[in-house]
Amino acid sequence: LNLILLGPPGAGKGTQAARLREDFGLPYIGTGDLLREHKENGTELGLKAKEYMDNGDLVPDELIISMILDKVEEDGDDGFLLDGFPRTVGQADALSEELDKLGRRLTAALSIDASDDVVLARLSGRRQCSNGHLYHVDFDPPKHDNVCDQDGKPLFQRKDDEPETVKKRLKTYHKMTEPLKDYYDERGLLRRFDGTRDKTEVHDHIRATLATLR
Ligand code: AP5
Ligand code: ZN
Repeated sequence: LNLILLGPPGAGKGTQAARLREDFGLPYIGTGDLLREHKENGTELGLKAKEYMDNGDLVPDELIISMILDKVEEDGDDGFLLDGFPRTVGQADALSEELDKLGRRLTAALSIDASDDVVLARLSGRRQCSNGHLYHVDFDPPKHDNVCDQDGKPLFQRKDDEPETVKKRLKTYHKMTEPLKDYYDERGLLRRFDGTRDKTEVHDHIRATLATLR
C-alpha cells in the first residue's frame, strides 16, 4: 500500500495515521513531525522552516521535496503512509515523478474532510505528548490533567494551534492544498471520508475502502 493522507489541519490525519500504522505496519512519514524535529534540533532546515510554520504558511517546496522523497526512497520499499505531503501541486508532481522512477505507483489519496468550524474547535483543544499521542481537552481528555495516559509524559499545546494561526493555516489549505483533491480525482486515486464522524467510524470506513483496493 502506497498511501497519502489529505485534508485540512485538524481533520484527523494524524489520528487516523496512528491507527493505519498499527493495522498495516506501514512506514509512516509525517511531514509536520519531521519538520518539528528539525526545529527542535535547531538544524539549518529547522531554522528556515520555523518562521513559516509559526506563521501558518507552507514551508517552500524546495526545502520539503528532497526531505520527503529521500525518506520514500529509504523507508518506502514495502509501502508507505505519507501524512502532510504532498501539499502543493508542485509537491504532487515531484512525488509522481519519484514513484515513476522507482517503478511504483500510488494506491490511493485518502482525503479526510471537515469544515473550518469543526477544525477550529478541535485544534484549539488539542494537546499532545512528545511521543505524538493526541488528546483533546473536551472530546478526548487524558485521565489526569496534562499527563499522557500511555507514557506519563507532560502534554503541551502546539504553537501553531492558536486560533489566529489556525485561521491562517486554513486559508493556506484552501488555496494551496485543496486543489489536490481534483488532481487525484482526475487520476482516479481520490477516496473521500467524512472526518466529522467519530474517530472509530472514520477508521472503519478507511479500512473497508482499502480492503477493496489491495
Ligand atoms: P502538520 O503537522 O502536517 O499539520 P496539519 O496538516 O495542519 O495537521 P494537524 O496535525 O494540525 O491535524 P491533523 O489532521 O493531523 O489532526 P489530528 O489527528 O491531530 O503541518 C504543520 C506545519 O508544517 C504546516 O502548517 C506547514 O507550515 C508545515 N508543513 C507540513 N507539511 C508541509 C508540506 N508538505 N509543505 C510545506 N509545509 C509543510 O486531530 C486534531 C484534534 O482533533 C486532536 O485533538 C484529535 O484528538 C481530535 N480528533 C481527531 N479526529 C477526531 C474525530 N473524528 N472526532 C473528534 N475529535 C477528533
Ligand atoms: Zn504519550
